[in-house]
Amino acid sequence: MTTAASALKAPAAGSWSSRLMFVAAAAGSAVGLGNIWKFPYIVGENGGGAFVLVYLGCLALLGLPILIAEIMIGRRGGDRPSTAFLAAARAAGLSGRWRLVGALGATTSLLVLSFYAVITGWVLLYGFDYAALAIGQGSEVLDSEAHFSRLTGDARAQVFALLIVASAAFAFSARNAAGGVEAIMRWMGPAFAVLLFLLAAYTALAHPAPFDVVRYLLAPDFAALKPAAFGEAVGHAFFTLSIGLCGMVVYGAYLDSNASVPTLALAVATIDTIVSMLCAFIVFGVAFATGADPAQGPGLIFVILPRAFSAMPFGHVVGAAFFAAAFMAAFTSVIALAIIVSRAIEETFGATTRVASAITALATLSGGTVVIGSVSGAAPIRLFGAPLLDALDAITSSVLLPVSGILIAVFAARALAAEIRGLPFGRALLFCLRWVAPLALCGVAASRLL
Ligand code: PFF
Repeated sequence: MTTAASALKAPAAGSWSSRLMFVAAAAGSAVGLGNIWKFPYIVGENGGGAFVLVYLGCLALLGLPILIAEIMIGRRGGDRPSTAFLAAARAAGLSGRWRLVGALGATTSLLVLSFYAVITGWVLLYGFDYAALAIGQGSEVLDSEAHFSRLTGDARAQVFALLIVASAAFAFSARNAAGGVEAIMRWMGPAFAVLLFLLAAYTALAHPAPFDVVRYLLAPDFAALKPAAFGEAVGHAFFTLSIGLCGMVVYGAYLDSNASVPTLALAVATIDTIVSMLCAFIVFGVAFATGADPAQGPGLIFVILPRAFSAMPFGHVVGAAFFAAAFMAAFTSVIALAIIVSRAIEETFGATTRVASAITALATLSGGTVVIGSVSGAAPIRLFGAPLLDALDAITSSVLLPVSGILIAVFAARALAAEIRGLPFGRALLFCLRWVAPLALCGVAASRLL
């Protein structure tokens, strides 16, 4: 790195206490609503096994190389998104305009945060309901559709939950970045893993035909695959690995320079994939047991699962465990998103971490309240003909994330070419970043037009 570029590297506020902690933190960011809420329902909408195969291909050929690239950009350029790109660009003699990729990632993060925190709030409210039922309080969810409509129609309850989510996230994002994330991952990581395995074991034992669920997830039926599924798989591969938003740039900045980035990235992607598959197994296992249609769309975990929880033995306890696990996964991702936005505010306005985190929390509350206004019908806003929440989800996952992911790939292939070539499978990685990623974007654009 040149002296000028070294001077540009933002002072990273601390580093991970161990490489395992980096893997835990990055997995905490990666595993979230994308695995629990979204993966099962898009698999259901796209016909099961064939979509899973396409998705795994996207993870291997696009997701993993870009994950490695993001971590390397952060390690070289620091934890502030635009500054990191600027430093890496200057060091490689490239245009300073590449810093706009960092700005795009941070702006997209804020958009994601404004609906992601709202859905995290729904999970929290469902968790409260089931915890109450599990200890014999509250009233049974008799009509799960009506229950979900009541919740999404209740703006006050949603704002209350959003307030809890935003202020709790502030408590962790306002601390020295590595420190705050480590503090929460130390206990939430193991607690989440235990709950997930218990739920999977329960599903396997209580389900009359668990292999039917496995077959649905693994046996490909390519006839069920629509062209748009390819774009959905690419967008989701980016979303689930937290790439394209510079989340891994920030976490990569706290990594020591001798760590093997491909090994750590592979560990993160493997954990994320195992969690997605287990979540899909649990969700479809529970749904199939009650004869539900897997292609239910976004209401799958909020409508179909509660119906099943009411019908199964120990359903309230299983429901409480499910929503507790979902909340933990979502909350650690909210923290990661909040940290990206804070770092961008720090670099843009010279704010301290605390002030930047407070501004991020307020922005999340404001954006989230607008989304809640739209969801509840209090102030129904539509964007490109769709309800605001759906539109934000579609624009970020299907457009902004793939575009910034591909820009990151092209940038890394130019700015970090020598370093990447020296890695294990370096040439293959460079090939994926340089050729496969841009071609895939063209494929996605074409599939949208079909
Ligand atoms: N990976 C998260 C999920 O699958 O829910 C979403 C996310 C979190 C994206 C943090 C980006 C990020 F920086």
